[in-house]
Amino acid sequence: MEKFIKNILVTGGAGFIGSHTLITLLENGYRLIILDSLVNSSETVIKRVLNLSNLHDKKRESMAIFIKGDVRDQKLLINIFETYTNSLQSIVAVVHFAGLKSVFESTKFPLQYWDSNVSGTINLLKIMERFNCLNFVFSSSATIYGTNNKNLLIKENDVINPINPYGQTKDVIERILNNLISEKNKKWSIAILRYFNPTGAHKSGLIGENSKGFPNNLMPIINKVAFREIKELEIFGNDWNTPDGTGVRDYIHVMDLAEGHLLALEYILDKNNKSNFIKLNLGTGTGTSVLELVDTFSRVNDVEIPYKFSARRDGDVSYSVADISQAKSKINWNPKRNLKEMCRDSWNSYKKQKDYKFRKLH
Ligand code: NAD
Ligand code: UFG
Repeated sequence: MEKFIKNILVTGGAGFIGSHTLITLLENGYRLIILDSLVNSSETVIKRVLNLSNLHDKKRESMAIFIKGDVRDQKLLINIFETYTNSLQSIVAVVHFAGLKSVFESTKFPLQYWDSNVSGTINLLKIMERFNCLNFVFSSSATIYGTNNKNLLIKENDVINPINPYGQTKDVIERILNNLISEKNKKWSIAILRYFNPTGAHKSGLIGENSKGFPNNLMPIINKVAFREIKELEIFGNDWNTPDGTGVRDYIHVMDLAEGHLLALEYILDKNNKSNFIKLNLGTGTGTSVLELVDTFSRVNDVEIPYKFSARRDGDVSYSVADISQAKSKINWNPKRNLKEMCRDSWNSYKKQKDYKFRKLH
């Protein structure tokens, strides 16, 4: 008799965090249906993920199926669920990365953010319910905590108060997911993962953080300075209430995040677990200032990062560091990779993506 196959639908799987998670899920035996509109990624990433996975050539094609499409496309989603639901297989869970993620862009184009993030998620949840697929892992963000100038570790039950449209879309989706859990007659199992500052890349350097358009985040900008595409890094403020005056964040290696997704998925799929609803911070619990990150990057990669101080950036906070005790105790997650590895892997991947010969060969 053929074995029942566990299909996982991964939306946004060609993106930064999604692509790294694909590797971990493939290595753990899941069959993946990857849906991505490629609005902020490219299909090359999927090919590279398949090459990196430890599957044999023939198996690869059947274990990861890529579909170019939008989560707002109801007909497409119905078609996907119909195709992969029969007596031998079903889509047992959805890991939902797809969405727009730039804080700055969300202030310029709020409707696009509400549509893609909130309407897209509602659409997806409706179709999941129709096909009785009630296991959901959601990419949320530390940005929902809003202003925190007390320099204390952030706990999951701290005040939620996002101050930009992007963060507000994540907050609203979390509220919707809360509503689903409160429904008496349905049996949803949901993991909300609130990422702090994802960075680093797969150690091969074949995939990494490759957003289209100019980046706003610190590590991608440091890479550009290191590559001499930008003359110097602008550090937004040296008068914050932190030891060296620059902003403190909780940088987390993307492969540790990927492992967090695997554990969260396995948690919600295991119906013996006490809870069917987990909300977890994913960070390291350690704060790093902008100056510390610049210094580590320079030393580890032996490259100079010129910088200058400028005014504080609107909407920034002094300190954003996770209390990760819930993720440790509930899903047994322990991030392993340190700041040096984040800086090394990030730079290695950036250089590889930039290498023209490499681009032609792959
Ligand atoms: P990313 O942009 O690299 O990946 C998102 C992927 O989703 C992209 O491949 C994009 O093409 C796709 N996509 C976007 N809208 C879509 C739609 N409507 N339908 C189908 N595909 C769509 O971003 P990422 O850094 O990998 O982030 C993944 C998720 O994690 C996002 O939801 C983001 O908001 C969240 N998040 C990211 C960070 C971060 O700093 N990277 C922090 C917290 C939360
Ligand atoms: N910074 C600079 N110069 C730059 C870019 C950033 O000094 O050119 C500083 C910022 O002021 C901040 C730190 O570097 O102190 C980190 O900034 P990022 O933009 O890399 O990250 P943020 O913490 O501001 O925000 C990021 C994502 C959000 C997400 C949040 C929490 O952009 O989408 O992490 O996960 F919600």
